[in-house]
Amino acid sequence: MKAVNKLMKVFVTRQLPSEGMKILSTSGVCEVCLWDSDGPLPREELLKGVQGAHGLLCLLTDKIDADVLDAAGPNLKVISTFSVGYDHLALDEIKKRNIRVGYTPDVLTDATSELTVALLLTTARRLPEGVEEVKNGGWSSWTPLWMCGYGLSGSTVGVIGLGRIGMAIARRLMPFGVKRLLYSGRTAKAYAAEINGEFVPLDTLLTESDFIVVSCSLTPETQGLCNKAFFSKMKNTAVFINTSRGAVVNQEDLYEALTSGKIAAAGLDVTTPEPLPTNHPLLTLKNCVVLPHIGSATYSTRGVMASLAARNLLAGLQGTQMPSELSF
Ligand code: NDP
Ligand code: DGY
Repeated sequence: MKAVNKLMKVFVTRQLPSEGMKILSTSGVCEVCLWDSDGPLPREELLKGVQGAHGLLCLLTDKIDADVLDAAGPNLKVISTFSVGYDHLALDEIKKRNIRVGYTPDVLTDATSELTVALLLTTARRLPEGVEEVKNGGWSSWTPLWMCGYGLSGSTVGVIGLGRIGMAIARRLMPFGVKRLLYSGRTAKAYAAEINGEFVPLDTLLTESDFIVVSCSLTPETQGLCNKAFFSKMKNTAVFINTSRGAVVNQEDLYEALTSGKIAAAGLDVTTPEPLPTNHPLLTLKNCVVLPHIGSATYSTRGVMASLAARNLLAGLQGTQMPSELSF
């Protein structure tokens, strides 16, 4: 696309689904500078590409800190992230510079909660192990206790962070016959009445739950929340699921809990780092299922996220109301 002087520059850190790219390229408002790749943008390319930009459309893999904001310079009016999570954005630095932030809540709630339920069932009923046994000849005959796992019927589920996604997970789990739905967080939620959710202290949730699902945002308070003390309070038959951010979990402590029999199994959609190295100890465990951060990965969801991120960016450039602006 030919640059025209009056157009504002936007830097887009990755090739996005066409629903978003089309909105930007036909807006008549901006000149799109794109890191035209499906792979992550090297830090030096981010620092270079953002120079003089009025708008930045980034991914959760781009750390937007003071160095990036300084590299962008005073033109920068808006950052639009192609994610609902915003722990990769240095909000204090962004605020100091009066930059607006757009993000993508709600549109990925269904996809992410659906994936969380899939991961919970996969982990609790040992599906990857079962598939492997069929392939490697470990399946000898139908055997009473072979490949047994844990079921949801009559169980207690604990959700840490009953926000948009946590609530959508709870709604999907209740019809499996869950008996009690506990949740913890900063405040009790009136909307939890719909699923008879009980707001409890974290310790109660840990000691009473058969399934623990982490769906909170990553903050200084939740960083490393799931550590040795946390796992030591869980039932040794309990299943731990995390689809929030990897840094909420201390992975060494999780490994220890899984290998010592302190907890039964874990399913993770998010890890530290991402990708998790293929020789990571967690990947050697049969009772740990690791997915490659695919919570929101349906074609339609990613298309809607792209469209929303593009519209947020344009509104920020034009100084109008964003469809989804983060208040901070
Ligand atoms: P919400 O803001 O709606 O929910 C976040 C929840 O975290 C809130 O209910 C909040 O509780 C809770 N929370 C904050 N601090 C704590 C704490 N100290 N202890 C317990 N709970 C806490 O966000 P979403 O539900 O839309 O998204 C949640 C997170 O899921 C995102 O931030 C992102 O990291 C992750 N995510 C992962 C995806 C994946 O692909 N795996 C896809 C999409 C999102 P309160 O309201 O009381 O403050
Ligand atoms: C998010 O949006 O925060 C997810 O991690 C990816 O969709």
